[in-house]
Amino acid sequence: MRFALFVVFLFALLNPLRADTDSVQTSSAQALFDGWEKPKVLLVFTGSLNGYAEPCGCAGLENMKGGLSRRHTFFLELKKKNWDVLAIDAGNLNKGSGKQEELKYNFVIDEAYRQMKYGAAGIGNNELLFSTETLVLYSVDTPGVTKRYTSANAAVLAFSPDFIPPYRILEKNGMKFGVVSVLGKSLTAEFQKDDTPNSDIKTADAAAKLKEVLQNPDYEKCNKKVLTVFGSKDEIENIIKEFAGKFDFILPGNTPAEPPLEAKTAGQSVIIETGEKGRFAVAVGLYDSEKMPMRYERIPFDSRFKSSETVTKLMRLYQEQLERTGLPGLGIRPIPDSRTATLGAFTGAAKCADCHEKSFAVWKKSKHHQAWESLNAAVPPRQFDPECIGCHVTGWNTRQLLPYQHGFLSAKQTPQLVSVGCESCHGQGEKHIAAESGSNKTLQEKLRRLIRLPLDGDAAKQHCITCHDGDNSPQFDFGKYWKKIEHKEDSTKENPE
Ligand code: HEC
Ligand code: HEC
Ligand code: HEC
Ligand code: HEC
Repeated sequence: MRFALFVVFLFALLNPLRADTDSVQTSSAQALFDGWEKPKVLLVFTGSLNGYAEPCGCAGLENMKGGLSRRHTFFLELKKKNWDVLAIDAGNLNKGSGKQEELKYNFVIDEAYRQMKYGAAGIGNNELLFSTETLVLYSVDTPGVTKRYTSANAAVLAFSPDFIPPYRILEKNGMKFGVVSVLGKSLTAEFQKDDTPNSDIKTADAAAKLKEVLQNPDYEKCNKKVLTVFGSKDEIENIIKEFAGKFDFILPGNTPAEPPLEAKTAGQSVIIETGEKGRFAVAVGLYDSEKMPMRYERIPFDSRFKSSETVTKLMRLYQEQLERTGLPGLGIRPIPDSRTATLGAFTGAAKCADCHEKSFAVWKKSKHHQAWESLNAAVPPRQFDPECIGCHVTGWNTRQLLPYQHGFLSAKQTPQLVSVGCESCHGQGEKHIAAESGSNKTLQEKLRRLIRLPLDGDAAKQHCITCHDGDNSPQFDFGKYWKKIEHKEDSTKENPE
């Protein structure tokens, strides 16, 4: 018994990354860097964050991987270990363009990457959606300030090392790392058209530009060469085929959601699949030893990593900025809804209570009724974040995360539409209520039919999963979930509540 305790104690000491975790998760979580000696340099590879600065927490944060906050804690733990760390991102840090995406990048992603001391990032197709100003801001070095981005075959204004550098050389513990990034033709072709999305962006052939970089004497001298590549599956395969052995590490973009447990290789190159949405990193330890020159491990950003105060602070600033900017300032305007003509406007659940006491009572006890409060209880609160409110209010298109006409706008303007109300499932109630208050039987019947969400067939389930999707409700099971919110008006049928 004592011996067992001692072993547990030793284990905790030897695994600082596991020390402050909650017991539920760690029982299944693998210890990190188990049995590793201090590497000469530890490379940390990530990619395809796609704007997922945080996991949404919809299925309980403890069950979800990802988030820059946990990633930052990981880097702080490495710092405590005193390892020499070099972080490189394949690219696609953002998801798209638009005001919110730029605010998120500006307030959270860029600053978090700076804090984590990323040495380089490739320019992916998502970065090409940024405005010229933003691209310049984040890729063009200024005196005393080195930026992150690099691309051999995409440039702003002109191909020149003074703008987006074709490669970046990073030094760590006496070693030189040369990082290059390219985009396949399927992604660059758009910028050669007449109606190009951004005429300031110049693109060129990936393979030709890579050959130029490889011939550069400065680049040639690098101890380790790293290539990141975004493109179609074929384009990536062709680049790997042509350049296997010329680069030590190749990071293909658009990889499977999770990195493999073991490193893949192509000839002399190690292929690093980073996964997406910031849920994993891949760590590669480099050693001088001939016997074991390299170790590989994938790092899942699960709840063993506490959230970092620094990143939480950035998230808070960002949320405050979203509140100040407001939906119109973010360019978010209500979109038309084909149902408006037949059903009228959204009215809010309280109006339904007058005639559907039983259904209302079930709903009021359900989590749908708390959905708005959950956003307020999150740290930091997210009641002004369109990427969150879309599914936690009434009257939004939950795929596009845009409000419908007459849908929720803000707690001030539309207090009756906070949370997932009756109309989130049944559709707008205005005309149904008007009909039921009148005496036109035909109209009443017609509208009753239209606001039904029938259980038979697939319609109800298909509707649920517009919100209960794989990201936000991975445990969703229609049968089980419906049981929890089942409501009936007919008093002869038994009501679950
Ligand atoms: C003025 C009274 C009244 C109000 C207010 C009202 N309803 Fe109804 N509703 C009725 C009556 C009457 C029926 C038909 C009897 C029944 O199915 O309970 C009905 C039927 C329904 C049905 C079932 C249709 C069917 O045939 O299966 C749904 C769904 C429904 N209402 C949803 C709502 C929603 C959502 C609201 C609020 C936006 C609402 N109702 C507001 C009176 C009302
Ligand atoms: C407009 C988006 C939306 C739609 C449509 C939707 N839900 Fe939900 N649902 C939510 C949100 C948001 C929550 C979480 C509320 C909270 O806890 O803050 C939730 C929570 C739930 C829960 C509680 C889960 C738990 O942990 O106890 C159940 C059950 C549920 N939904 C069932 C359904 C079913 C069944 C459907 C389809 C008939 C459906 N939902 C349709 C958004 C939606
Ligand atoms: C695509 C729809 C959708 C979006 C977007 C969304 N949510 Fe949710 N959220 C849900 C659903 C569905 C649930 C219920 C999940 C379940 O219980 O299976 C939920 C549940 C939650 C819960 C309750 C978790 C619990 O343990 O009870 C929180 C908190 C939450 N979401 C926060 C957020 C935040 C923060 C964001 C923005 C980053 C967000 N949601 C964006 C659909 C969404
Ligand atoms: C998460 C989705 C969802 C929400 C939220 C919801 N309902 Fe329903 N409701 C359904 C589904 C699905 C059915 C179909 C049941 C069936 O066909 O037996 C239904 C059935 C009904 C019926 C017909 C009941 C019967 O006896 O046949 C009424 C009335 C109704 N809902 C009213 C409401 C009211 C009022 C609210 C809000 C207080 C509400 N619903 C909230 C999904 C929802």
